[in-house]
Amino acid sequence: MRIGTRTQRFQESMIREMTRLAMRHGAINLSQGYPDFGPPPQVLEAAAQALGEGLNQYTVTWGYPPLRERLAQLYTQALGWPVDPDVHVTVTCGVTEAITVAMLALLDPGDQILILEPAHENFRPSAILADAEPVPIPLEAPDYRLDVERMEAAITPRTRALLLNTPHNPTGRVFDETEMAGVVDLVTRHDLVLITDEIYDRILYDGRVHVPPGSREGLRERTVTIGGFGKTYAVTGWRLGYLIAPEPLSRAIRPAHDYLTICAPTPLQAGALAALNLPQEYYAQMQADYHARREAMMGVLEEVGFQAIRPEGAYYTLADYTQLPVPQAQWPSQRFAEWLTTEVGVAVVAGVNFYSLPGYGQHTVRFAFPKRLDTLEEAGRRLARLREHSIP
Ligand SMILES: Cc1ncc(COP(=O)(O)O)c(C=O)c1O
Repeated sequence: MRIGTRTQRFQESMIREMTRLAMRHGAINLSQGYPDFGPPPQVLEAAAQALGEGLNQYTVTWGYPPLRERLAQLYTQALGWPVDPDVHVTVTCGVTEAITVAMLALLDPGDQILILEPAHENFRPSAILADAEPVPIPLEAPDYRLDVERMEAAITPRTRALLLNTPHNPTGRVFDETEMAGVVDLVTRHDLVLITDEIYDRILYDGRVHVPPGSREGLRERTVTIGGFGKTYAVTGWRLGYLIAPEPLSRAIRPAHDYLTICAPTPLQAGALAALNLPQEYYAQMQADYHARREAMMGVLEEVGFQAIRPEGAYYTLADYTQLPVPQAQWPSQRFAEWLTTEVGVAVVAGVNFYSLPGYGQHTVRFAFPKRLDTLEEAGRRLARLREHSIP
């Protein structure tokens, strides 16, 4: 039987595979980025109430109307232009769907999209599903700064878009004013569409604030702003995200969403509305909790001998393991990640999985720390065996 080749151009997610390996071996799962604590009770109650009260059928394809209204209100403020819930807002099945439908609608076969690497594993397959060509631009260790000259050099007549994720997974970078000024200049001069992934917009450290790229002068007409509920409210399994786009882009994207998924789950959208109505104290407490988790994670890694970057946002750190006092410290990163999972009992993701560029990401692994402090402490106890030479 003849089988199509599109999906043969990428492999299954190694992040999700590491979770399966962690489950088989009883490892503490610091591989996949999801919380091991629950969502706020008000959010759960709102979703349960919606189920009980009959919000169980398809809702409007573009999203449950009260949720779209609230998003429009919030993004009118955040983006600085009048966001209309009926024109500009689409609720999707996760950020993953939002990125995929944006690419399906805005890119033609053969068009190129610039993707910074290291990158969340889903970006490249999304571009390939759209028959577009992902063009990787490296962020170089140890600073992982955005190199606009390098991006400029990669531009060809086929370059149509830039995908920008900030706060960034897996480096924890929050791109600063200088880097963002370079992005504005680049995308406007080359008439590119900017697709943003701002799923970690509420997880920031040391007093940083998130400025949505689409709020910047010159970017309003060309930016698809994408956000999600999974990380901020600890509901990654609900599969809820959204995109805000100017009218011509929104008009093009909405049919892709319509025919791919019809709509995102209705009762969970009612839960998401309750999430957006949480008081400011929720965010203040969440930031304080994430600071504590970051300190716990960094403390463990430093103590054991990893050289890890201190995240500015999001909840990951990429850690170099070559200075560990074990022979495995010289192994390539996939083998090291599997060994750490199966023999030490702490699951991580190999740095190479965040790159399509050959030679990048070796000798690093990603730790995800959206975890209870006792989970991180237990990971610390297990990792301490690396220092004590008590690993088989
Ligand atoms: C940068 C980034 N974008 C998107 C996603 C997936 O988002 P969702 O679960 O809303 O599809 C993740 C998940 O880890 C991520 O890190």
